[in-house]
Amino acid sequence: MNPVIPDTPTDILKARDLDVVPYAARVAGLSERLGIDLSVTVDALNAIPLCLPRDRHAEARRDIAAMIAGRNEVLRAELPHIVRRHFARLTETGRVEVMREAVAPAVAELISLLVGMPIGVEDTNHVSRIFSQSMGVARRKTLEAELGRLNAQLRATFPSSSARELGLKLSLMILGRDAMMGTFGCSLAAMAQAAEAGWNSLDWPDLPPRTGVPYIDRVANADVMIGEQPVAKGQPVRAHLADFEASDDPRLRLSFFGAGAHLCLGRALAMDSWRALGRFLTDSSARPKVLTFELRRDDVFNIPGTFEIEVSKQ
Ligand code: HEM
Repeated sequence: MNPVIPDTPTDILKARDLDVVPYAARVAGLSERLGIDLSVTVDALNAIPLCLPRDRHAEARRDIAAMIAGRNEVLRAELPHIVRRHFARLTETGRVEVMREAVAPAVAELISLLVGMPIGVEDTNHVSRIFSQSMGVARRKTLEAELGRLNAQLRATFPSSSARELGLKLSLMILGRDAMMGTFGCSLAAMAQAAEAGWNSLDWPDLPPRTGVPYIDRVANADVMIGEQPVAKGQPVRAHLADFEASDDPRLRLSFFGAGAHLCLGRALAMDSWRALGRFLTDSSARPKVLTFELRRDDVFNIPGTFEIEVSKQ
């Protein structure tokens, strides 16, 4: 069923009587219909706060917030070093594949610190496809295997943690990574395009100008009105957050992080990282020129698949 997309995404962000998409039940149904084992994917979906119904959501959200808070100090201390290590290439003469050489390794390092376990760039290539609604069987199996490997790595690293704690850590890996990669990749491309006179010519915005999370979905749990539009119980609705990219109003762009019960728990970290990146780059007079930029094929996130710049000095 195609989702209802209202003219103003805020209508959905403010609406009551909406539930999260029952991802776990859908994948369980698919696994039964296709006769393939997707149990690791179903378990992971059952641990992600964003996928949990109201009665189970609050507790998971509280625990994951505590997990993030527990890593706050180490993350804030490391942030400037992570930025310098991975983004210095963007201030040195030559061609740079920005996603491969800077954004992906920086995000992998941040998420590793957050979870307390080293995660390679390649280890989590498929995890966020977990939200895809148009994935073929082969990809589903690859995702299942990848999640299985991450679970095994988590169990070996934290042998005394409960299955629930490990599930929450896994959900941090899933929720943080692609949202950051996409938001930072797309926003950096916009900034680089505006910086032909040099990174230091930019007035770096407090909030990223683009989002990697172009929409969020919900399902109506009653017959409701979304703005002017009637929506029947069971019908999916979509808040098109990418619409806020056109807005100069930072309050609207804050909605890149959602709103209400499921408001992003990584917002402070993502914004601090964005500002740290701005401080570092705007200190440099190097001039970036965007050579290639193309989004990867993805029905959930906006993530550059190719993003190359040429950096020159005055
Ligand atoms: C710039 C990067 C990010 C963007 C644009 C972003 C965006 C979002 C959005 C839109 C939601 C709400 C989804 C919905 O209501 O359906 C969300 C939820 C969430 N995000 Fe982020 N996010 C980002 C980075 C992160 C990071 C780095 C973390 C981990 C530290 C994180 C953790 C979470 C969690 C745990 C939730 C679920 C909260 C809940 O369901 O209660 N996010 N994010």
